[in-house]
Amino acid sequence: MAAGSCLAIILLLSGAVEMVKREDFKTCDQSSFCKRHRNVKETGYELLSNTISSHGAEYTANLQNSENTLKLTITGLADSTIQNDIFPTPSFAQTPEPLAFKSFDNSGSESTIIAGDGKIKVVVSFKPFVVNVFNEFGELVSQVNRDGKLKIEEFRTKEEGKEYPEGFWEEHFKSFKDSKPYGSSSVGVDISFVNFKTAYGLPEHADSLALRTTVGNTDPYRLYNLDVFEYELNNPMALYVAVPYILAHRANRSVGALWFNAAETWVDTQSSVTSHNVPHFDAHFISESGLVDIFLFVGPSVRDVQRQNSKISGVTPLPPLFSIGYHQCRWNYNDEQDVQQVNQGFDDHDMPMDVIWLDIEHTDGKKYFTWDQHKFAHPIEMLDKVAAKGRKMVTIIDPHIKKDDGYYVYKDAKDKGLFVKRADGTTDFEGHCWPGASEYLDFWHPETRSYWKDQFTFERYVGSTKDLFTWNDMNEPSVFSGPEITMDKDAIHYGGIEHREVHNMYGMMYHSATFDGLLARTNGQDRPFILSRSGFIGTQRTAAIWTGDNTAEWGHLEIAAPMVLSLSIAGIPFVGADVGGFFGNPDEQLLTRWYQAGAYQPFFRGHAHIDTKRREPWLLSEQSKNIVREALRSRYALLPFWYTLFQEHTSNGLPPMRPLFYEFPNDDSILEEQKQWMVGSDLLVRAVVEKDTYNVQVNLPTSERWYDWVVGNEVKSGYFDAPIDKIPVFQRGGSIIPTWQRIRRAAPLMKDDPLTLFVALNSDGNAKGQVYLDDGKTHDYQKELYVRASFVYKNEGKRATILGEHIGGKLEAKNWIERIVVRGVAESPKKVEITRVSDPVQPLEFSYDRDSRVLIIRKPEALITTNYQIHIDF
Ligand code: GLC
Repeated sequence: MAAGSCLAIILLLSGAVEMVKREDFKTCDQSSFCKRHRNVKETGYELLSNTISSHGAEYTANLQNSENTLKLTITGLADSTIQNDIFPTPSFAQTPEPLAFKSFDNSGSESTIIAGDGKIKVVVSFKPFVVNVFNEFGELVSQVNRDGKLKIEEFRTKEEGKEYPEGFWEEHFKSFKDSKPYGSSSVGVDISFVNFKTAYGLPEHADSLALRTTVGNTDPYRLYNLDVFEYELNNPMALYVAVPYILAHRANRSVGALWFNAAETWVDTQSSVTSHNVPHFDAHFISESGLVDIFLFVGPSVRDVQRQNSKISGVTPLPPLFSIGYHQCRWNYNDEQDVQQVNQGFDDHDMPMDVIWLDIEHTDGKKYFTWDQHKFAHPIEMLDKVAAKGRKMVTIIDPHIKKDDGYYVYKDAKDKGLFVKRADGTTDFEGHCWPGASEYLDFWHPETRSYWKDQFTFERYVGSTKDLFTWNDMNEPSVFSGPEITMDKDAIHYGGIEHREVHNMYGMMYHSATFDGLLARTNGQDRPFILSRSGFIGTQRTAAIWTGDNTAEWGHLEIAAPMVLSLSIAGIPFVGADVGGFFGNPDEQLLTRWYQAGAYQPFFRGHAHIDTKRREPWLLSEQSKNIVREALRSRYALLPFWYTLFQEHTSNGLPPMRPLFYEFPNDDSILEEQKQWMVGSDLLVRAVVEKDTYNVQVNLPTSERWYDWVVGNEVKSGYFDAPIDKIPVFQRGGSIIPTWQRIRRAAPLMKDDPLTLFVALNSDGNAKGQVYLDDGKTHDYQKELYVRASFVYKNEGKRATILGEHIGGKLEAKNWIERIVVRGVAESPKKVEITRVSDPVQPLEFSYDRDSRVLIIRKPEALITTNYQIHIDF
């Protein structure tokens, strides 16, 4: 960790300091604070040099313009931290680790701060006030308030007779009124990434991976968690998740900025060049309320930035193995018999599958934690039957609670006062959702969190077992009868917090409470699995995310990859899109192409709307069915690779699915690539997202040798055949990828299986890789009950050696190496031998294919918990 490579800049107020129904959602012009900030001219803040104080890791000073006095705090951080001094945030456990400045110097017009590790320099200019941040190479990489857009509307008391801007004390949208008892309290400032043309992030939008210029073109990107019916592609409208984070990248340099604010936020973006031809990417952040609280991650590499952000926002803990297999969902599986048929169907058609999902119709009248008495009269038996095949189930649990005195959750929450309140602060807020009239649990109330946690015990959640996991939906929150289909901003949470202040966190507060429940029901033994639709900074710590209600259209298949990638960049790595598209009926070509792409995305689930035709894969034609089976099998074969990537993510924050520029950071030609992506460092996927397309162009970075993942022959950039049964996937030279080739009906049944290694030689004839495995289920890995093994292929001229080493963990794993496939071998070996600890040298069988240059070594039969050497003599 590059200590000190991250900075917190906090500005505090001193003292008080077309299918979509577009008309349902506000434009910037219809939102008074957005409009005011978007048009802001230089606000003229200057830093008062006589107020500067600096000690330890903290620099403070006052800023002033004709209207306001503000307090600036700049904190140097040794590692990453979280700053949140307004609201309780139980999901953020990390505490800040400040690192004292190395030096601090004041001239007449600026302060110069050198971070504790000597790597970052911050120059604060007094008049006008600008924060300039330099990386360890002395390059200016970011400027805060360079354009002078810092604007803060402080909390105040309304003065009768005084003129205020439009919408300042009350705002109307359609038939809705937002009373604003505290007036407008918005904040905004510009952050510039100097010498960067391209930037990413700000999920969630159904838009391109690289951020566009919104200034002069469209509305700013909006971050306000909303349930948008039939969302449109390629526009900056808000969706279900909000992560106010931007990563800017150019050849070999990266920098990131996290805007720590949970209120409605708009970000106006612009890529341009200065009069001296210096490119810069500017982001004007505008939030309805809260503090200006910015974390800057100074890199210098993209991996550094990802890790620095993960130290603040958190990582996804190792998911249970089943959850990275394939999930079968539909709104709805009708009854227990239907579930059993789906369970059996996957076996009958020899397709692996791990989880069967039940949507809202499984409940008794949309009362979550209950079962429809007729259709699901024997939930435990049903669950046990599914579990007997090694599979799991998931039920949906939404945050709206049916207003029904006979419903125990409603009654309990009413009695204990656990619902969100109306603007009056005393009566309970009411809205409409799936069950009709509903109330919404207030997850800022500590008792709500403990009450919710208790609902997941096996005694309380009658009909649940340890094989049942949870889907949290509609948690933006979705309120059908509310403004923009969500909760009124003047609704009140525990402690008098207005909903407006914390809207974008509601979904995360909810799914993190669910996580606590799933963790507690087995006393912390088993790993929870939760899927959430809504999310915020830190969501990754307790939930996976899917991209909501997409449509069975080619454009939606295409946008899935950039959406998943931008969530991954912003720190949420366990992500996927509904395979096949939620609304509408995909034709066979679209559905098969979607399975092929989904198999290489982190969260892999087929799902469909209640009005669509059934589409379990065996209902397809014989040809399509075989292709889908192949796609599923290709996913299961790579489970050891995915699992190892998720484990690595826990230590370095790197997402398993990554944009190409993460792996080839000095290649400027791939900055906008979004049809190709990497799984880890070693697999490059080119999804076929165009109808009737059977030949696609693939850009394989030339710094490496590449091999066709299936055939194993070496290939170069160009056009590749992609017949309907093939998705182009390539292995990077220099890598060793662990796979399971004995595909069984569900992932946990494969955990002890032998491995087949795929070795792809680089231009020096070398390669390396690792595998991580454990019980796939519990937290015992924290007690070192795991195994990590490394594999190295060393070219030694007329001989090559494969070194297998047990490098970590105490688990007595049963996995052994069953086959090694070496790609890019120039000639057939004369002999291959293995030396195991305490065993004599033994010859191994092998075969060599001259056309593909692939060498296959059979049955080394070495346990991955041991050390061994395989010698290949040419
Ligand atoms: C929402 C979800 C969708 C689910 C439906 C019914 O639209 O996004 O996945 O099937 O609600 O629960």
